[in-house]
Amino acid sequence: MIDLRSDTVTVPTAEMLEHMMNAKVGDDVYGEDESINELQRYAANMFGCEAALFCPSGTMTNQIAINVHTQPGDEVICHAYSHIYNYEGGGLAANSGCQVRLMHTPRGIFSTADVEACIMPAADAHAPNSALVNIENTYNKAGGTIWKLSEIQEIAAFCKSRNLKLHLDGARVFNALEATGDDPKAYGALFDSISVCLSKGLGAPVGSLVLGSKEFIKRAHRVRKRMGGGMRQAGFLAGGGLYALQNHVERLRTDRLRAVEIAETLRSNPNVEEVNRPETNIVLFKVKNIDVTLNKLKENGILAGPMGAGTVRFVTHLNLTDKDVARVCEICENLS
Ligand SMILES: Cc1ncc(COP(=O)(O)O)c(C=O)c1O
Repeated sequence: MIDLRSDTVTVPTAEMLEHMMNAKVGDDVYGEDESINELQRYAANMFGCEAALFCPSGTMTNQIAINVHTQPGDEVICHAYSHIYNYEGGGLAANSGCQVRLMHTPRGIFSTADVEACIMPAADAHAPNSALVNIENTYNKAGGTIWKLSEIQEIAAFCKSRNLKLHLDGARVFNALEATGDDPKAYGALFDSISVCLSKGLGAPVGSLVLGSKEFIKRAHRVRKRMGGGMRQAGFLAGGGLYALQNHVERLRTDRLRAVEIAETLRSNPNVEEVNRPETNIVLFKVKNIDVTLNKLKENGILAGPMGAGTVRFVTHLNLTDKDVARVCEICENLS
């Protein structure tokens, strides 16, 4: 089977596994796991942040950041497509007692005016307190769309002027950085916290990092423990993460080019509607009957998933070969 359901389905390469096996480990809850400490330093350095914290998942790193930045009853301003709103089990309400105010703009990208329209009047005791703005980059549900650095800079300056914290759900931030060529340090300077995933396009088996100031990470450490995310000799996992950061970032270009090739093939098929123009590694397209299409793909050896009503999602990733991509294109040409 060629699995295009997500870039989370990858299994570690032989080189990554070897790196994991050789990791120097210790008790990370005591801060004594050398591999985790090295990974945290490496990632913080990459983004020019003061510190980082290794966690089991991107859901946890997002939820920790929300918890540190807010008080119960606060409002999180985010896009209607956001992972924190759609796919984290209502965690921001359950874990932090927050509610959301949603923006509905094309491609998941919003402006300062869109944020401003969501800010509740601080002097009005009836109103919830607007505390945090969330940017997702790339936007998963929008089809892997990318923010321009200038757009983020405007939002960051605005948030600062209005005393709002700014969090980046950067589960696929390296896909964005690969496509734009932006320096991760430019991101580090703009956000109060950044979540990055090692187990998506980068191909590590487990793990995410949350990055920020020393003070933020000190508080995040306590929240991670409270959420049950304090791991012990998890340096074996961090070893895979460090290997991924050092070896699998540049190759994300291949995933992007393959997504473009698949999308172009789909566009040439008159039976397929509204194919996105992939900015990174996600292809979205509309079909008349999604169950029929997903079954047809499966019969031809391709696993795909739905992304909202009538939309099929393909995600390209590390474990695909050129032969797999050629086969996918062959099937897509004739999809009915
Ligand atoms: C944009 C985004 N944020 C966060 C997550 C959560 O990551 P995890 O599956 O590691 O909890 C995902 C997972 O797909 C995601 O796509």
